[in-house]
Amino acid sequence: MKKIKGSWALITGASSGLGAEFAKLLSKNGVNLVLTARRTEKLKELKDSLEQKNHVSVHTISNDLSSNNGASLLYKDVCSLNVPISILINNAGVGLNGRFKDMSLEDHMSMVKLNVLSLTELTHLFVTDMLKKKIRGYILLLSSVVGFGPCPNFSAYAATKAYVLSLAESLNHELKSEGISVTALCPGPTRTEFFSTAKGSPGKVLQTFMMEPEEVASEGLKGMFARNRVVVPGLITKISASSNRWLPKSILLKIADKLG
Ligand SMILES: NC(=O)c1ccc[n+]([C@@H]2O[C@H](COP(=O)([O-])OP(=O)(O)OC[C@H]3O[C@@H](n4cnc5c(N)ncnc54)[C@H](OP(=O)(O)O)[C@@H]3O)[C@@H](O)[C@H]2O)c1
Repeated sequence: MKKIKGSWALITGASSGLGAEFAKLLSKNGVNLVLTARRTEKLKELKDSLEQKNHVSVHTISNDLSSNNGASLLYKDVCSLNVPISILINNAGVGLNGRFKDMSLEDHMSMVKLNVLSLTELTHLFVTDMLKKKIRGYILLLSSVVGFGPCPNFSAYAATKAYVLSLAESLNHELKSEGISVTALCPGPTRTEFFSTAKGSPGKVLQTFMMEPEEVASEGLKGMFARNRVVVPGLITKISASSNRWLPKSILLKIADKLG
């Protein structure tokens, strides 16, 4: 990762889980950071520890990306820092676990705003910026293994991640000639705050296969710097993703319903 020393990355959802791991790994390699999430205290703690340990510059911005103007406010705040963002990690996201009908419309809309609308807006704003400044940028979009197929009990969440996966694959192709790569990271169950926020808990089978966030973040960054289209971390996750291609939908839906 020598070439990226001294560059700047924006990481959304950096207050916990995968976002915090991306921040630790990038700063170890000399990348300066702009970290954003809603929990300011957590961001400040991370900033202090990374600046001290890894001697990089870190800015924090508190922002709610499920609010209507969250993404545009964040973009404005990042612009006012006057730092050239060449790495964008669109990581902030939430899940909703349970039957679609049993969850409030408000929760669904808030998840779609965060996982789909803000991610799209930030990607557009920073791609435009990178093109204008002739930056050969790297963009990582957090999808999920459930982005490869339907997933009862995570129905709307899986649909948001299918959108992200499709967007990344198309954009990687569209922007290749401009020197910008867009990579989808598609993890399986990972030990973060995700399941408690999603108001669910991974069943026994899923718990056996849970990956650690460090491993997932590290594979994601390797794939992003290799300018790959899609990264599926871990063998079990790869098998699970590819089963969407060869198992009949009726069987897939039954298995996913039992596991979720
Ligand atoms: N863990 C898994 O099993 C798994 C599997 C596949 C994909 N993923 C994806 O990985 C990404 C990271 O999740 P994680 O596993 O690291 O979970 P996490 O520990 O819950 O982290 C989620 C991050 O998103 C931020 N966030 C949530 N709502 C937000 C909002 N309205 N505005 C701004 N930031 C918000 C949270 O910060 P604040 O609460 O401070 O705002 C937090 O930093 C998500 O996109 C998730 O869908 C996770």
